[in-house]
Amino acid sequence: MQKQFAPKVFQLGYVALETPDIERARDHYAEAIGMTETAIGHEGESYLSIGYEHHNIVLRQANRVAMGHLGFQLNPGTDLKALVRELRTFGLSAQVKSDSQPGIRELIEVEPVSGTTLQLYTDIDAPAPGFKRTGVSPLRLGHVAVISPEGPKLKAFFMDFLGFWFTDTIAGISNFITCNREHHVVNVVSMPDNRVHHIAFQLKGNASHAMACDLLAERGLPVKWGPSRHTAGHNIAGYHYDPDQVLIELYTDMDIFIPELNMCEARPWHGHYPMAPREWKLTELAAWETEFAFNLAKA
Ligand SMILES: [Fe+2]
Repeated sequence: MQKQFAPKVFQLGYVALETPDIERARDHYAEAIGMTETAIGHEGESYLSIGYEHHNIVLRQANRVAMGHLGFQLNPGTDLKALVRELRTFGLSAQVKSDSQPGIRELIEVEPVSGTTLQLYTDIDAPAPGFKRTGVSPLRLGHVAVISPEGPKLKAFFMDFLGFWFTDTIAGISNFITCNREHHVVNVVSMPDNRVHHIAFQLKGNASHAMACDLLAERGLPVKWGPSRHTAGHNIAGYHYDPDQVLIELYTDMDIFIPELNMCEARPWHGHYPMAPREWKLTELAAWETEFAFNLAKA
């Protein structure tokens, strides 16, 4: 049975990426994805918004491609100083940072495992630059898949400290967990590497997949896998690489998780009922049994 206490965070807010070519990366997120730059940081970082919050993607110039940090929004009214004490009791060093980035006055930075840095905050500015009419123009940032050699420890932090619910695993390698009603907000991928596996944006509707694929193809960006319906989460997902070979997922139709019942809301396309957390095989990635040459498991 799942634990009953509510998660401390309720959504993924932003993903920060380090890139050797910030202009090229900014062009991808601003023009191809259709985000709006809301600020440029002191060190030239680019803050990009999907349409409402101050930022959902942050790009920073660096020597090589790397994962920066992941931002999660804490429940309103969370006492940051008390949470730092709780983190220390949990065995992690953490601190409250003030004015570390535009749009967020105070946040907690913590590194639950080496190489994965999380930022936790209650408030982020909402300049609402609006949703672009060009580019993929997604609705929101939905989830992030993170590769870590310390996958079990990272998953334990999300579940035991932040209160995430476990919803599925693929062969024990991909571990799906959530802090809201979507099937997964984080996918902890246990592999000997430290990087983002993919970043997922939710599209407006299923018809948006065709428009997004056409647009990406026009820009010379191949769609590597899908769109097809997954098994874990049952989202219809299509994947392409950003210019730094960071995998980007565009999805719709994600399963809705009901923690009170430890199952997902029943859907006509579910292969069995109830759709409760389970282990899927590596050969069970696509509900339509779609096969593509691209190996998503090794991406
Ligand atoms: Fe995903």
